[in-house]
Amino acid sequence: MRKALLALATLALIPCIAQAAAQPPAAPITIGHYGSLTGSEATFGQSTSNGIKLAIEQINAKGGINGQLILLKEYDTKGDAKEATLAVTRLVKSDKVVAVLGEVASKLSLAAAPVCQEAQVPMISPSSTNPRVTQAGDYIFRVCFIDPFQGLAGAKFATGTLKAMNAAVLIDQAQAYAVGLGEQFQLNYTKLGGKIVSTQTYSGGAQDFTAQLTAIRTAKPDIIYIPGYYTDVGNIAVQARKMGITAPLLGGDGWDSAELAKIAKDAIEGSYYTNHYAPDQPDAKVVQFIADYRKAFGNQTPDGLAALGYDAANILFAAIKNSKSLAGPDLRAAIAATKDFPGVTGNITLNKDRDAEKACVVVELAGDPPQPKYVTTVAPR
Ligand code: PHE
Repeated sequence: MRKALLALATLALIPCIAQAAAQPPAAPITIGHYGSLTGSEATFGQSTSNGIKLAIEQINAKGGINGQLILLKEYDTKGDAKEATLAVTRLVKSDKVVAVLGEVASKLSLAAAPVCQEAQVPMISPSSTNPRVTQAGDYIFRVCFIDPFQGLAGAKFATGTLKAMNAAVLIDQAQAYAVGLGEQFQLNYTKLGGKIVSTQTYSGGAQDFTAQLTAIRTAKPDIIYIPGYYTDVGNIAVQARKMGITAPLLGGDGWDSAELAKIAKDAIEGSYYTNHYAPDQPDAKVVQFIADYRKAFGNQTPDGLAALGYDAANILFAAIKNSKSLAGPDLRAAIAATKDFPGVTGNITLNKDRDAEKACVVVELAGDPPQPKYVTTVAPR
């Protein structure tokens, strides 16, 4: 179905070409996307790509922007920082894109952002939440909240809603995202009166978590905070339940993949994570987006990445429309001026740090097979 949509995007160019006799068709505007289309975070890149392609299809169906259609160049980062830098270098230097969308993983956005900053090509990360990402420079934006807030939201939910006052944390030390979010959770959790009873680490891709889980079991936590990515979290959940650990697990947006429940099955039931969006949130914009997405992508329900990819692309289109020209400095200024944009993931205003300040939702993995169910919203501070 993704192929079909691409074909559609290409076909959409034809009517313009047909009119070429009278007036030469306007050249398309090329934008870039770099994301993990394969590897252990594959659904991050695939969902983001789908969201972006849906936004492109919709704008091109309306004739594009000021008569120019949008064309997408996309490269796979395989979840690797070096590949991410290479991909963005290609987009900027060879493909001459006007702007870049990506990455999801903070580590990869951190690796590639300097390329965009140096070339004065705006980059919008749909979903990287580590604060340092946009500190790479004034050409680097994001349309999501940042981890000091996400960590607070997790800590508030654990202490306030779950009344879980003893927590263990298990952190992927190879991911800037996990390290940063883990720190922010611990900081806020202790401020709110909670006690960290065990701090354990692993490195993404590890297969055996026995040592860490043995230490955690001994510490008898009420909750285990795991700010990692879905493949590892799935493996951890399975092993934890096998070892007799029954405490609920709590995580962040890195859990947001249908793969998590496929790996963990009932081991993840009754666990929670903070996220950017919940498909069952009562909101008209969300309902319309889900319907459009399901139609385009074989009845798949969009996850938060798809929603953020869609929002990032639409914010870029609005900026292109408002920009004086497609030159980097003009487009940068137009993106920076984004205010009250009605996104699927909430109303988006970019602040002076080029970050979005938005609410965070908490979802529970409930049912058989476990599916994310909306629990509550934590408003930005
Ligand atoms: N916020 C994560 C990071 O910065 C990426 C992510 C976002 C993953 C949304 C899943 C959903 O690395």
